[in-house]
Amino acid sequence: MSRAATECGVRVDVADGRPALYEATLRNLQAEVKELPAVWLYDERGSRLYEEITRLPEYYLPRREGEILRARAGTIAGRTQARTLVELGAGGARNTRVLLDALDIERFVPLDVSAQTLRASAQAIAAAYPRIFVHAIVGDFERDLDTLPGRGPRLIALLGSTIGNLYPVQRARFLATLASALGEEDAFLVGVDLVKDVARLEAAYNDTKGVTEAFVRNALDAVDAELDATFDQQRFVYEARWDPEHEWMDIGFRARQAHSVSIQGLEIDLAFEEGEPLRVEISSKFRREQLELEAGRAGLRVESWWTDHAGDFAVALVFADGKDV
Ligand code: AVJ
Repeated sequence: MSRAATECGVRVDVADGRPALYEATLRNLQAEVKELPAVWLYDERGSRLYEEITRLPEYYLPRREGEILRARAGTIAGRTQARTLVELGAGGARNTRVLLDALDIERFVPLDVSAQTLRASAQAIAAAYPRIFVHAIVGDFERDLDTLPGRGPRLIALLGSTIGNLYPVQRARFLATLASALGEEDAFLVGVDLVKDVARLEAAYNDTKGVTEAFVRNALDAVDAELDATFDQQRFVYEARWDPEHEWMDIGFRARQAHSVSIQGLEIDLAFEEGEPLRVEISSKFRREQLELEAGRAGLRVESWWTDHAGDFAVALVFADGKDV
């Protein structure tokens, strides 16, 4: 059995993010537009459904990113000289393997909110790369950035357009925290989905098999189970639409009729009007100038910007400002 052998190359740390998540849930449900934090999407079932999404023909993002990483991994290895790879929001870590194959690293630090997915992928990586020590962290990349382990140079990756889940203010805060966590020789690698034809964007979040809808609906079940709530699937219609003003996909539900939902775990009752939205996530789409601007404001510099053959997706390599490579 390879169990002992693989486990000796793995360490798993758990940062309990539940209290903070409950607080954010309470706050967001009482806001002007009701919202559930996107973290609710990633329980074990949700993470599995997301894996299924990544294989949908409509959901081009991971394939485009994979194409870019395969073409540029050698360059990334050369420019960063990374010895530690930190992956924020690692999930199933599929595209990560392209980096692991090219980089000469001693330590891989995947960080994800989903404990089960993280454990499974940490062990799979440790088994496939016996020379790499895997130090997995169950946590939230918006909160646990300042305590990342590993010797430098480190490459901190946020792939799959996960950064698109953040609102502009959260993104600014994230980039600023990241800038202060980045050592002189560290680098940041970020994958972003690009603004494009609305029909293709909307198709990516309204797939014909309904996997995305099932994925988003699962957040309601997760809240019902964990917070003793009464969100009823029948009373909500799934909706994912392009918001041209903010350039993000707005993903969630609308209440079919006026009704109320009780959430015992948070000691609240929520009244919904007919047609009222309940947002579960945004998925921001990017433009090069915008990302460069935001990086610059945080004291970061976009050193390289690579796109796939179709110009759908981009991967940017970012350093702390003022650093010579
Ligand atoms: C994991 C945040 C990148 O925004 O495209 C996929 C999540 N939601 N389909 C995205 C998601 C619905 C995904 N990210």
